[in-house]
Amino acid sequence: MIMMEDLFNIIPNQTSLPLLYNSFILCLFLIALRMLLRQFSRLYRPSPSPARMRLAQMSSHISNGHSNGLTSGPRTEVQNDATSTLADIPKSNNFTSKLPPDPQFPTPIDSHKAPRQKLGPRMVRGALYTYVRPEPTEDPELLAISKAALRDIGLADSEANSQELKEVVAGNKFYWDEENGGIYPWAQCYGGFQFGQWAGQLGDGRAISLFESINPQTKVRYELQLKGAGKTPYSRFADGKAVLRSSIREFIVSEYLNSIGIPTTRALSLTLCPKSTVVREQLEPGAIVCRFAQSWLRLGTFDLLRSRGDRDLIRKVATYVAEDVFGGWESLPAVLPADTKDAHLDPGRGVPKDELQGKEGAEENRFTRLYREIVRRNAKVVGMWQAYGFMNGVLNTDNTSIYGLSMDYGPFAFMDNFDPAYTPNHDDHMLRYSYRAQPSIIWWNLVRLGESLGELIGAGDRVDDQVFVEKGVEEDFAPVLIKRAETIIDQIGDEYKAVFLSEYRRLMTLRLGLKSQKDGDFETLFSELLDTMEALELDFNHFFRRLSTVKLDDINTQEKREQTAERFFHHEGVTGLNETNDSGREKVGKWLDSWRERIEEDWGSESSADEEREKAMKAVNPNFVPRGWLLDDIINRVQTKKERDILKGVMEMTMNPFQDEWQWNEEIEKKYCGDVPRFQRAIQCSCSS
Ligand SMILES: *[C@@H]1O[C@H](CO)[C@@H](O)[C@H](O)[C@H]1NC(C)=O
Ligand SMILES: *[C@@H]1O[C@H](CO)[C@@H](O)[C@H](O)[C@H]1NC(C)=O
Ligand SMILES: *[C@@H]1O[C@H](CO)[C@@H](O)[C@H](O)[C@H]1NC(C)=O
Ligand SMILES: *[C@@H]1O[C@H](CO)[C@@H](O)[C@H](O)[C@H]1NC(C)=O
Repeated sequence: MIMMEDLFNIIPNQTSLPLLYNSFILCLFLIALRMLLRQFSRLYRPSPSPARMRLAQMSSHISNGHSNGLTSGPRTEVQNDATSTLADIPKSNNFTSKLPPDPQFPTPIDSHKAPRQKLGPRMVRGALYTYVRPEPTEDPELLAISKAALRDIGLADSEANSQELKEVVAGNKFYWDEENGGIYPWAQCYGGFQFGQWAGQLGDGRAISLFESINPQTKVRYELQLKGAGKTPYSRFADGKAVLRSSIREFIVSEYLNSIGIPTTRALSLTLCPKSTVVREQLEPGAIVCRFAQSWLRLGTFDLLRSRGDRDLIRKVATYVAEDVFGGWESLPAVLPADTKDAHLDPGRGVPKDELQGKEGAEENRFTRLYREIVRRNAKVVGMWQAYGFMNGVLNTDNTSIYGLSMDYGPFAFMDNFDPAYTPNHDDHMLRYSYRAQPSIIWWNLVRLGESLGELIGAGDRVDDQVFVEKGVEEDFAPVLIKRAETIIDQIGDEYKAVFLSEYRRLMTLRLGLKSQKDGDFETLFSELLDTMEALELDFNHFFRRLSTVKLDDINTQEKREQTAERFFHHEGVTGLNETNDSGREKVGKWLDSWRERIEEDWGSESSADEEREKAMKAVNPNFVPRGWLLDDIINRVQTKKERDILKGVMEMTMNPFQDEWQWNEEIEKKYCGDVPRFQRAIQCSCSS
């Protein structure tokens, strides 16, 4: 319900925005908005029983099938056989060599010779980035390194202690000099819609990219960057720095999401800058996170180009994304076979760049395949967020990744008590970025991208015609183009929903310990469970972990089920409004009965399968979840009490969150994995970081 009102509030403001660079695109824009409304109302219809209805509706769109073994759980072990140092890993700068720089500092030397303060905030046009060097840090202290990050970049374990790495991640060294050249750091230029409103030029206000590197073993390409290393032309009113508090949060959650198998930007290191105090709500110590990702491009990159009518650059960046980020046009997903819903889950690939596919009126060229890839990746990641109760807290278009990564960790949170209306963002009064809104909001953002790419998508087979490329859309072709773009974006919206639901369903199935998916599962298991959790105010992630250890013998009579139900309560008992311990026992007991039936179907009724099922469930239901209250505790220990070992221990938990124990500090481990203290549940954060 909130979603719909929210949406209607958003729409009228938008048409007045200076976004439109010609009348063809104006049509496209308006049509896209209408289309968006249809999409929304199909995904979320206001309903009396939100959780139940929501899932029932979602489920009607996916068909049966797709059993999944409990085999491919997220990976945990960190084994690193890389031997390279930071100095000798391969480095490149395809981003800056293929895309246009800030015309005011067109080469590294121009930027290097300019005084640092000259590189401050201003409008930058016709460019994707500005060359800008990090500000040096005095007496940096390397607080933590992620071992998994070393491995994934292709760096030896011993690099954790290297002086060179310490210098680089503190902004004190980069791989360029006047004599020999090399790779000069840069900050990206992009725009975005914030809370549904067009916000103009944004850009990397405190992030500076250092270089790209391809891991020779895995062939995965990453772009390394520093967050908090000083002002850039995109800092607007800010100082380009980051506080220790938000840096600790980002460092931990990036690596944690990766550990539980959710695509995310990553973090290599956390550095304290003791001499650099930052003014926020009070004076706070500054810090730098060295982070990395397959790409730092955002949907907002395209928004800005569209708002400026820069169709050449839209084409250029889209081409860069296809060729350099996704590894070639041929790697993109093909058109889906008509009317086969299941095929939505696994499109073909390998379509030659110039091939046109699809039905008349919806012919798909390569840019459609690019759009499809970006949409599908984002659909998948949202499905994962929902299954693990993760909320980003700010999902503006500039906080949404081209590569489908979770990114920009500000006021994020993991769900404590299940509450679909919860938003971790203290300033989000409209609940735009609440748990339940995430799937619609990401689609909203993706429709903005569809509008930016609309001309290229709609052009079909004429996308490379000289007149179209150089001059734009001819008048008589416009209606065809618009119609086609609209049809395609609409179809890809269905795909978004199918991919999102299938991922959500896949993970929920695993989390509940089932080996197969059945039609009724959405209704009788997922929805029932969510309704029960919501009514009783049960902890979402604890529920699944605790369920992992339930044995068939514990739930084979009504009495035992009601007794077992208590394992899921908070230590003070049931807190839900109008609920009591008794009603809680009854509700959870009833659900456990439905669950038992399904478990017996999938695993047999012998209790001998208990052990294997427990193992499988524990491999997908983390014991450690970095919740707001314990991150606050860690921050307090590091910042105020000057503790250092805590980060090492917490990183062990972060790298291996599915373990029962870590043999590091029993007391802290128990505390962090235990019941959330009553008044620290569902805390909220402000955006300041
Ligand atoms: C950079 O581009 C070249 C040529 O297009 C390509 O071979 C190489 O893999 C790219 N490197 C990265 C890190 O993207
Ligand atoms: C998200 O984007 C907004 C601009 O829309 C930016 O100010 C903010 O810093 C971003 N959030 C994070 C956590 O980076
Ligand atoms: C509910 O159960 C908890 C223990 O699980 C207990 O501490 C609490 O007193 C009980 N509440 C009532 C009203 O009996
Ligand atoms: C709790 O009970 C009262 C009185 O029976 C009712 O008015 C209210 O709607 C109930 N609240 C919930 C959340 O069920």
